[in-house]
Amino acid sequence: MTANLLPTFPTSRPRRLRKSPEIRALVRETHLSPKDFIFPLFVRHGKDIKQEISSMPGIYQWSVDNLADEIKEISTLGIPAVILFGIPNKKDPIGIENYDPGGIVQQAIQEIKHTNPEMVVITDVCLCEYTDHGHCGILNHGPERPYNNLPEDYVLNDETLDVLRKVVISHVKAGADIVAPSGMIDGMVGVIRQSLDEAQFEHISILSYAIKYSSFFYGPFRDAAESPPAFGDRKSHQMDPANSREALREAALDVKEGADFLMVKPALPYLDIIRLIRQTYPELPLAAYNVSGEYSMLKAAAANGWLDEKGVVLEALTSIKRAGADLILTYHAKEAAAWLETNSN
Ligand code: PBG
Repeated sequence: MTANLLPTFPTSRPRRLRKSPEIRALVRETHLSPKDFIFPLFVRHGKDIKQEISSMPGIYQWSVDNLADEIKEISTLGIPAVILFGIPNKKDPIGIENYDPGGIVQQAIQEIKHTNPEMVVITDVCLCEYTDHGHCGILNHGPERPYNNLPEDYVLNDETLDVLRKVVISHVKAGADIVAPSGMIDGMVGVIRQSLDEAQFEHISILSYAIKYSSFFYGPFRDAAESPPAFGDRKSHQMDPANSREALREAALDVKEGADFLMVKPALPYLDIIRLIRQTYPELPLAAYNVSGEYSMLKAAAANGWLDEKGVVLEALTSIKRAGADLILTYHAKEAAAWLETNSN
């Protein structure tokens, strides 16, 4: 029925359906649940560390020995999954700790699975937290600079794919359930699928950061993961915020390469893209990453008393789901899950 077939006032009175909390609940179209959330965790070497990230109040870097209690709390809140980001001991041009069996993420995966085998463990697969230059791949840099016609800070594509292959195998050997390549390197999903299958990890799924924009909203994350690019930016691989047709192309490639889930990132400034991908690929689960800057904005406004934190957070997360996301990666996950438990209308 199109809107112009509906009777008009006074026959039609939309307010009838808003009369009481019970009636509003009956006609509510979007229901947020802790089961929709994936909580990002930052892990680092050391003992007894729980270090707050200054630009992300309430979010911490953890040492592995402190993870068990945190994981128990996350499970008790009904959140089914975490995504891991590691801060290595030592950074280098390639980021070798990324595929070290004793690396920080590998240790964290084992600790989480030991604490709660049911917790779904997703790993972010990228080079930027591990490289000394902070870029998401191997650079066209140094004495061997392979491509004279490209700038020195150009992230080399196929050379980087070879590193990503090693990283995913190392993560799944440690026990990861899902790998999430986030570097926007061409062909990443295809080579990861192939490497997993060849190593008999055909049951491991790929959550592709298929549509990742080059966004200023990642600012606080780069404090959290200690991964700001030492020079330059990520515009040669992440997408231009001005583009939406290009999002269709990125998604199509990842679907063909075997992605099991698609992701749009960031979330709130890109709700149109979430809707577009949801409508174009109804078959695939869709995740949205409510990124660090989106979190910090609401936290800062709430800390100043300018916004009601619970209200704006639940409204923002509901909007991401309403736009079409099935899953939301969010730093608000724990607080939101607790509020949803006790929510009235
Ligand atoms: C890359 C990665 C980034 C984020 C998630 N994975 C940073 C970047 O691309 O610069 C950002 C997440 C956030 O801002 O919360 N490994």
